[in-house]
Amino acid sequence: MPRFAIVLLAICCASAAAAGEPQDAPPPINAKKLFARHCGWCHGAYGLAADKAPRLAGTTMTEEQVRARIEDGAPGEMPGFANTLSAEQVDALARYIKSLPAAP
Ligand code: HEC
Repeated sequence: MPRFAIVLLAICCASAAAAGEPQDAPPPINAKKLFARHCGWCHGAYGLAADKAPRLAGTTMTEEQVRARIEDGAPGEMPGFANTLSAEQVDALARYIKSLPAAP
């Protein structure tokens, strides 16, 4: 095999290995997308407006309380998500809600 072909092969394999690396890490959690799928049919405008459920932006709850509310829900008002969402997803949603602007 000509020398340049070997060099090309080496470059090609090295970049393929590098390209494969990110797939080993878990995909990043998109809290806004999670919110749209699980919460948006009750909480309006990604949490920024009241709909069937109250506006979440500016909640007086702590991040810990928000996390507990997502997991446990509120009887007769809101379903609990402990069995639907992973702990990481609940964390991401709680952080997302606490990051929303408090003023309307
Ligand atoms: C079936 C409709 C429904 C869905 C779906 C829903 N909620 Fe709720 N949520 C409510 C209602 C109704 C309340 C108000 C209940 C109350 O009086 O505390 C509420 C209250 C809350 C509160 C408390 C706000 C505060 O300041 O008191 C948080 C936080 C919350 N929801 C987050 C979420 C998140 C995050 C999701 C998605 C994972 C979600 N909710 C999905 C209906 C829903």
